[in-house]
Amino acid sequence: MLSQAAAPLGSRLLLHSAAAAAASSAAASAPCAGLASRRFGATRSWGLTAGPAVTAAPSSLPLHLRNLHSSPDSHHGSGAVTPDPSSGGAAAARAGPAADADPAATGTAPTPSPGRGDPGFSPGWTLTLERGIGKSYGKEAELQATAAFRAEVFPDLPIATTWQNWVKAIRSSLTTPPAEDPSPPFTHYATRPGAQKVITVAANLRSPLEIEQRVAEAAGDGAEAAGGQRANVLLCVSGSHPVRTLPGVASLLRSSLDTLRIADRLRQRGYIPPCTQLWVVANPNTERGAGLLERKTELGANAVLTQPPLDWEAYLAWLEDARRRGLLNEQLPPGNSRSTSLSSSGSTSSSGSSSAGPLRLIVGHPMASSAANLSFWVSLAGCGGSAAARQLVADALRAEAGGKEAAAAHAAAYNSKLVEQVLAHGGVAGLHVMPIGKASKALALRMLAEGALPPSV
Ligand SMILES: *[C@@H]1O[C@H](CO)[C@@H](O)[C@H](O)[C@H]1NC(C)=O
Repeated sequence: MLSQAAAPLGSRLLLHSAAAAAASSAAASAPCAGLASRRFGATRSWGLTAGPAVTAAPSSLPLHLRNLHSSPDSHHGSGAVTPDPSSGGAAAARAGPAADADPAATGTAPTPSPGRGDPGFSPGWTLTLERGIGKSYGKEAELQATAAFRAEVFPDLPIATTWQNWVKAIRSSLTTPPAEDPSPPFTHYATRPGAQKVITVAANLRSPLEIEQRVAEAAGDGAEAAGGQRANVLLCVSGSHPVRTLPGVASLLRSSLDTLRIADRLRQRGYIPPCTQLWVVANPNTERGAGLLERKTELGANAVLTQPPLDWEAYLAWLEDARRRGLLNEQLPPGNSRSTSLSSSGSTSSSGSSSAGPLRLIVGHPMASSAANLSFWVSLAGCGGSAAARQLVADALRAEAGGKEAAAAHAAAYNSKLVEQVLAHGGVAGLHVMPIGKASKALALRMLAEGALPPSV
């Protein structure tokens, strides 16, 4: 389901270095590491619309992006992400923020956590929180207030805007259009102050121009200029959500690799701050090996969020391959002593080199409060054919047959054990907590209170 057909992207990417040179001189502002934009006044006039019109046609692209596409004869055919060294624009984008920083201007564009957005900066153990949008926007206040979550992840919305709609879409193929969206435009989604804002950018159903527009609107200066909150992280996915793709269509449409290339290019050219992190997704239940993840790493990914490990053996095999390829930057919570089960992998690199890689692995945690939740996740993760995954649902159903208390105890035990297992096998740098609905949110709060879910450090 996370199918990644390699599209002939280079031919569609119209970035032109001369146009970029002109545009980046007005665009290279970067609130990285606490540096303020000395061109803040100028960038305010980009005309980036921060309103809800995220699906604007190319003709309504902001001027600076239109410039990028003004010379169709000279686009790069190779899809190479390295800027032409002879291009003044590329040089400016590279040198930009650090060389141009005006200390006197520091503070005009406050960054919640200086340094944290720097791709070279590796924070410690990280919990991230799945935020609801649409009707579910704002329902995570209690979880946010714990300050356990370093980053908050907002899904994209091409087809269904709420968990409820997703459940319907998965279970009965949604035919009615999504309900009116009462949440603010994505440029104005707000996190707990100090938390990183992660905006999902889906490739499916969008043209390269539309992807560029979403990237620039989310992470460029426009969001703050319009009174919103700039995204510190872009989560580059194929489908509409960090861990959910549109069944069946992914292979026909643009992939997350396309999104990643586009975002990385805009980052290199200075359209978005160089400290903007690019995160990607992976499905350890169904991906054979970490080859795809390695490609994403080569394209500039800083972290990966995964589907919940529902097929445990498949997860371990995938993890071991990611380790063997040297991809992972391990960051375990303080006091965690990894179990000796590592030796069963037979890999000598397990404890040594896994901490040196370029990528932080943030494993999806389903926070399942019922058998229904588990079967929902099993179907989203595309592992309904896995005996191990089906067993999880069967176990939960058996517990539910024993009454409410037995069911609650089983759910609590399942979630705690999953966290323990993931930590015990190492390689990870955090967990992405996805609490659907009230019961799951309550369970997450309890696990935090009991120390079963280690908070970000
Ligand atoms: C998850 O389980 C709860 C009951 O614990 C239920 O109310 C909710 O609808 C379930 N959600 C999904 C997506 O299965």
